[in-house]
Amino acid sequence: METNTTNTSPLKKITIESHLEVFDTMSELPENIQKIMNKAHEARENAYAPYSHFKVGAALQLATGEIITGNNQENAAFPSGLCAERVAVFYAGATHPNVAITAMAITARSLKKLTTTPIAPCGSCRQSLAEYEVNQDTPIPIYFMGEAGEVVKALSVKDLLPLIFDSAFL
Ligand code: THU
Repeated sequence: METNTTNTSPLKKITIESHLEVFDTMSELPENIQKIMNKAHEARENAYAPYSHFKVGAALQLATGEIITGNNQENAAFPSGLCAERVAVFYAGATHPNVAITAMAITARSLKKLTTTPIAPCGSCRQSLAEYEVNQDTPIPIYFMGEAGEVVKALSVKDLLPLIFDSAFL
């Protein structure tokens, strides 16, 4: 007997919504976010990206008001490199344990072409960020952009990574 896999209807369907806001330029952002985005731009230029020629900068605003930055650090053994977002969030975790992250800014620039598309964090970075958001129990708004142009705001890591895997499952 043949099994029909095309006409079966599921018991239940789930629709997942993400909430993103788009700003035309950096100048429309709140002042404190412009400040961390500027820090992310500065950090981006110090990225070590000799292989991809794609520089990424990230800045975190902490509940103490401090700003932590990071950039991508590549390696001749390619998988040994690390993204800007994880450099920043791991540094914050290492030096300011248990201090909440109140906002994050990310910017990326290709050395080969103009990047005006907002560059969202990669999947591994989203998962790493989720760990901190779940632990602090308050959403981390994430603002991301290219080197110029539109800025996208995700209200929470959850908007970028639905169905988060977290320690509650363990
Ligand atoms: N990269 C980041 O730093 N963050 C991301 O979210 C995406 C990718 C870096 C990794 C690598 O150094 C370069 O960009 C190209 O993938």
